[in-house]
Amino acid sequence: MADADVVVLRSKKAKGSKAPKSTKSAKATRTGKRRAPLREIPFKVTNPQRIPAQRYYDQEFYDLEVKYLWPKVWQMAARLEEIPHVGDWVEYKNLGKSAIIVRTKNGVKAFSNSCRHRGVQLASGAGNCKTQGFICPFHGWRYDMEGKNTFVFNRQIFSPEQLDQAELNLLPIRCELWGGCAFINYDKHAAPLLECIEPFARWHDPRHVEKLKVEWWLSAELPTNWKTAMEAFMEGYHVMRSHPQLHAVSIPGTGAYGDDSGGRKRQLNAREWVEAMIINMKMLGEGMAGMVRAHDWDIADDLKQTIALPEDLTEAKMTWMRALNREITDRRRAQGVPMPDLNALPALSPDNYCFPHYFLLPTFGNMSSYRIRPLGPEKCLFELYSLVLYPEDEARPVPKAPIPTPITDPIWPAIPAQDYSNLPLQQLGLHAEGFEFMRLSRSKEGSISNYHRVIDGFLEGRPDDELVIGHQNACAPIDSPVMDDVWEPHPLRSGAHPV
Ligand code: FES
Ligand SMILES: [Fe+2]
Repeated sequence: MADADVVVLRSKKAKGSKAPKSTKSAKATRTGKRRAPLREIPFKVTNPQRIPAQRYYDQEFYDLEVKYLWPKVWQMAARLEEIPHVGDWVEYKNLGKSAIIVRTKNGVKAFSNSCRHRGVQLASGAGNCKTQGFICPFHGWRYDMEGKNTFVFNRQIFSPEQLDQAELNLLPIRCELWGGCAFINYDKHAAPLLECIEPFARWHDPRHVEKLKVEWWLSAELPTNWKTAMEAFMEGYHVMRSHPQLHAVSIPGTGAYGDDSGGRKRQLNAREWVEAMIINMKMLGEGMAGMVRAHDWDIADDLKQTIALPEDLTEAKMTWMRALNREITDRRRAQGVPMPDLNALPALSPDNYCFPHYFLLPTFGNMSSYRIRPLGPEKCLFELYSLVLYPEDEARPVPKAPIPTPITDPIWPAIPAQDYSNLPLQQLGLHAEGFEFMRLSRSKEGSISNYHRVIDGFLEGRPDDELVIGHQNACAPIDSPVMDDVWEPHPLRSGAHPV
């Protein structure tokens, strides 16, 4: 962090939270080096179980995120299946910046979408540049797929020093790949992608996440802050009320939140438990139009006809799950699907957040996935992908970015539609006079607290080595607890998935 970047911003007192204290002097870090003082920021999270409401609508806070968070983090910019052939490119836009992600002969690269003459954007949407490269629509300068400037019309009218080749090439953006996606980062000094998103990446690698293909892809512009939208997917506590159809078929004995007045208390026998589980699979699969698929519950329906289950319920559950995993693995592999051995996979939660704006929801050989981008303090773009492991020889159409669909459109599956219906109400309610902060469950809504405090670290200008630790800690399964210190390496984060 250059000294010039260390500025003290005007402090605002968050209602219901203590005014942030200015860090008066340079601080010694874990490596013993003295570091520049942190910036003072408004609406800082000072109580980990209370999130100041203004963080979701205040223009100044939003501007700080635009300036200090987004340019320093790895953004999921494209699915690689959008650019399957050499020369294929796709544009990724966020917060007024446009990047071109292109598959070259030498790998996937990213460039600023800006002509080196007078800055005109070269490309919009998606296409293939193998034959023609990129041609600026203003004065016709040309670039090849590697970003090299190959043509300047009437070059003799420029002073030679204006045409230094290195300065004419498109500006590169850092681009690294993981999980079938290209991620970009505008910060030349940021830690590598994998370092930032471990262990999230390691949790999903055994599931062949890089082989997933888009079944369908939808997007919506939501009238909410980008964080409001994301947080609906960081806890399962809302299922009881927001998704009553799921709660009604929740399997007794597996609920983490207890029953409301309509809950079933009776212990099931083994057969009833299997029936409940299959109904649950179908309800989740139909409600998401993804995650659990018909090819999964059809196998479960077949299996229940033949399987012998022990009397003891605990043993019966284990017998059932191992047999179901075995059947799905074997049958899908027989169809040419690159299925992992489901019984050999470590336990994984059904919904995992990757800081700052990406989610994977693994279920058997399928996943749903979310990507969220801010469009203003109280508007965001929410994308939902249904991803499936298909037979390797099955040709899939190249996915195209969807035109946003209103959240009331019946095209949306029931479960995300229910989630979206709450969000505008929440965004409005956050403005209520006297509503000072969200109060979080210490044990179930901790992901929300943890990533907010990591955002604060970016806004304050914490040292890069601490931000990497915070980044890793912010990547978390649904229903994670509040961490005491998001800047300390988390023992669980370095190893197995903390389901
Ligand atoms: S701005 Fe691109 S050629 Fe002039
Ligand atoms: Fe939900």
